[in-house]
Amino acid sequence: TPRIFSGIQPSGGLTLGNYLGAITKFVDWQDRGTHETLFCMVDLHAITVPQTPDALRHNTRELCAGFLASGIDPERSILINQSQVPEHAQLGWIFNCVARMGWMGRMTQWKDKSGKNAEAASLGLFAYPALMAADILLYKSTHVPVGEDQKQHIELTRDIAAKFNHDYGVDFFPLTEPVIEGTATRIMSLKDGTKKMSKSDPVEASRINLTDDADTIAKKFRKAKTDPDPLPGAVEDLEGRPDVRNLVNIYAALEGRSVDAVLTEKAGGQLGHFKQDLADLAVSKLGPVSMEMARLMRDPAEIDRILTRGSERAREISVPVLREVYDIVGMVR
Ligand code: TYM
Repeated sequence: TPRIFSGIQPSGGLTLGNYLGAITKFVDWQDRGTHETLFCMVDLHAITVPQTPDALRHNTRELCAGFLASGIDPERSILINQSQVPEHAQLGWIFNCVARMGWMGRMTQWKDKSGKNAEAASLGLFAYPALMAADILLYKSTHVPVGEDQKQHIELTRDIAAKFNHDYGVDFFPLTEPVIEGTATRIMSLKDGTKKMSKSDPVEASRINLTDDADTIAKKFRKAKTDPDPLPGAVEDLEGRPDVRNLVNIYAALEGRSVDAVLTEKAGGQLGHFKQDLADLAVSKLGPVSMEMARLMRDPAEIDRILTRGSERAREISVPVLREVYDIVGMVR
């Protein structure tokens, strides 16, 4: 069976961006049943920037709780803790030797995260996309559902697969396709409609966290940046209004409708009312998820069991694939 793989970093709490751009899509893939579905807490990626050990443990478990609360079923999908499947790091090393410095240096995430002081960035942050390629190709995954910001990394994964196949004269790794669909591929900051909503943004009011309570969600939407004009009747009229466009996108994604359908209904409405409707909708959709997350977090041992079981299932695939890779490369065993 063809495989879907995707990962999320346990580097902070889950945001509405992660939920709409990634997790809800993962649930759709799982429920469609056309592919084997694997989802990974990428703790090895998280430590490419400093993480305190207790926070990393907490965030890894909470991320797993987020998957479960959103509808990922550990029987139908494989939930992996990256560091519990050592083949990720092992294949990552092989790919460090396939990927070129120049390719890595062109990654926008590297440029953004290393900032003005690349000398002080970790080597792991630079090599990040090679480990990501290993995550995906370890399971010979063909499709990777992600938000818009990960597209470049998936393209690099294809380059790594193609170079490996070419250098060793094999047809071993598939050329992976990114799957970036729907209205929620890039949810923006509530304080700046030209910037991605991110768990690492220092401004707390810029994002909705899955763990926010109803009052906090309502307040954040109420205080979201907008302009004074009413809602237009068509998508084209949102041109040049990125903040409003973002709120309409979020509304459409939460309701599972198109932006056009939402605008047809809401045309001419005041932003103040719309923000209230949006807050109500968000609370009704996210409230049950965050309650279930809190319930699951009361039993961390059960979460650990689920991750250990999922990681064992993953190894049934990853161990033989890595063995084949080692044979291709010429490692004696
Ligand atoms: P991460 O942890 O930053 O984000 C997890 C997923 O959420 C999506 N996402 C968003 N989608 C829409 N709007 C947003 N504002 C938004 N913010 C985040 C991301 O696109 C992603 O799909 N490098 C990856 C983790 C990773 C991975 C992988 C992904 C490691 N190995 C293998 C796919 C396959 C990352 O940092 O995602």
